Amino acid sequence: MESREIQNMESFLASLLKQSGEDSGSLLQILREVQDHFHFIPPEAIEWLAARLDVPRSRIEGVAGFYSFLSLAPQGEYRVLFSDNITDQMLGKLELMQYFCNKLWVEPGKVSEDNLVSVDSTSCTGMCDQGPAALVNGWPLTNLDPNRLDLIAELIRVRKPLADWPPMLFEVQDKIQKAGVLLGEAFEPGAAIRATLARGAMATLDEVERANLRGRGGAGFKTASKWRFCHAAIDEREGSMICDVGGLPQRVMVCNADEGEPGTFKDRVLLNSYADLVFEGMTVGARVVGASLGFLYLRGEYRYLKAPLEAVLARRRESGLLGRSILGEAGFDFDIEIHLGAGAYICGEESALIESLEGQRGRPRNRPPFPVTQGYMGRPTVVDNVETFACAAKIAEKGGAWFAAMGTAQSTGSKLLSISGDCERPGIYEYPFGVTVEEVLRDCGASDAHAVQVSGPSGTLVSWQEFGRRIAFEDIPTAGAFMVFHRQREMFLAAHNFTNFFAHESCGFCTPCRVGTQLQKRIMDKIASGHGTPADLEELKRLGEILVNTSHCGLGHSAANPILDTLKKFPGTFERKLKNLAFEPAFDLDGALATARQITGRDDEWAHL
Ligand SMILES: Cc1cc2nc3c(=O)[nH]c(=O)nc-3n(C[C@H](O)[C@H](O)[C@H](O)COP(=O)(O)O)c2cc1C
Ligand code: SF4
Repeated sequence: MESREIQNMESFLASLLKQSGEDSGSLLQILREVQDHFHFIPPEAIEWLAARLDVPRSRIEGVAGFYSFLSLAPQGEYRVLFSDNITDQMLGKLELMQYFCNKLWVEPGKVSEDNLVSVDSTSCTGMCDQGPAALVNGWPLTNLDPNRLDLIAELIRVRKPLADWPPMLFEVQDKIQKAGVLLGEAFEPGAAIRATLARGAMATLDEVERANLRGRGGAGFKTASKWRFCHAAIDEREGSMICDVGGLPQRVMVCNADEGEPGTFKDRVLLNSYADLVFEGMTVGARVVGASLGFLYLRGEYRYLKAPLEAVLARRRESGLLGRSILGEAGFDFDIEIHLGAGAYICGEESALIESLEGQRGRPRNRPPFPVTQGYMGRPTVVDNVETFACAAKIAEKGGAWFAAMGTAQSTGSKLLSISGDCERPGIYEYPFGVTVEEVLRDCGASDAHAVQVSGPSGTLVSWQEFGRRIAFEDIPTAGAFMVFHRQREMFLAAHNFTNFFAHESCGFCTPCRVGTQLQKRIMDKIASGHGTPADLEELKRLGEILVNTSHCGLGHSAANPILDTLKKFPGTFERKLKNLAFEPAFDLDGALATARQITGRDDEWAHL
């Protein structure tokens, strides 16, 4: 960089640091801004930030290298990332991306020679109901087809600022196809907080217990137990305290809006059109556990929601629903900050999310201690899913018995499903728990389905023989994804796509997952290219066992699910791709020696293996 450029960069960075209070915990947010401004993280910026924040350079490089939306190498002025979920591929993503690259004379994964544009793939962007989708400099593009891509290529070619692009390109619809108690009933902001104040915090906790609310993020942990542990954590460790400790909040409420599981997009809709319900649930939770600080961890792919969500927060502050003495109740102080992720699926795991909130790489922590006792900055922290908070608000307003009357005994209330793939009406569907897969397929117009991937790649593959099974914690648990595959779909392609996803998203911290997901990918690539043998299937099963039993966190535990499930339920899809050999090595040693043969001019029998 020239000295004038360095000066400009320094004043830009200084203003960012001022906004963030010179806090190294804001590192990820600062680096996001740097990426936006320079289209990468320049080494000079890293050096400057390291000196000003008094952190090692390696820490900043580590964070910048971890998140896929940050880049240490220059990217195009326009960075277009095509969503690579299997449902996007089923809608023609691969062909469309190639078409777009041809139009702009750029190779996938590269930057154009004039630095104008770079095109690549990214993990599912959470718009599978209106795919194929992509992001341009982080902003969503939906319903892509050749016409739209022609227009986008032209806008890029003439360097039109994104703010002047036609708004229809960025339109993301809610697509609510079936509404229930969460989506179908009006909610008056403040109603749940008022009910909580009238009833009392502990009595509200009892209502959440009576409701038998279980976490909607996938694991199904009982929300009341989590809140109770968090509330009890301080009493146990430090005696009862009523104020913040050493500048740190007493307890922390975190809403997990990372929504990175491919095929899941229901939190997107809750945040777009039901934000009051979600923030109200967080505020009720804060009252119950005694939290003064809240975070909404919003996945980077949903950055377009940040400004409208900030507006809702501002309105709630003005109405006395956030801030000091909420609704006039002395000592009831709680506020919420929005923190943007930067393209890392692992940051949905609650302890990795907390690391990310602290400005670190999203690496899952050792547990115990669990976040409810030692979470954000060591403070007791509740991490709950967006939908869980929406349910909590409804329970606070209407009572636990009302909620428990819906669904099944072990899975009370309703569940939002994000439906995509081979069906006539993709979108959001709300059902009481206990609905059968068959009923859901009928509603969304999937007449020819032979498989459904429930809860994304880490979930369960349900074959047509199992369509009578129920969506419920006691049968098929789900965080919400419901991807439909019709009879003509080769299920191997889905398993291959999901395997690539896990290999890409493994955080690399523990060996079984770092190596295991890569080995899985290599074997699946080999089978896809027509070189697989029965020995490879045995190797996949063996790897699966290692991943499940020895990985550090849930990502590794579930990374073999798609392969193992597909092998069990659709063995033919693998067998059709196998060679009739018992074994073929993954590495072609004879082929690798071809250059040596050419150099030495030999091609006799002894020069081959
Ligand atoms: C790899 C991985 C990714 C996850 N992603 C999410 C996510 O995007 N959203 C979410 O709510 N929970 C996610 N979870 C689960 C969280 O760790 C945690 O259990 C959840 O946020 C708790 O909220 P709940 O009790 O309301 O379900 C993920 C877990 C793992 C292992
Ligand atoms: S299992 Fe995978 S994602 Fe989890 S800590 Fe290990 S490497 Fe990281």
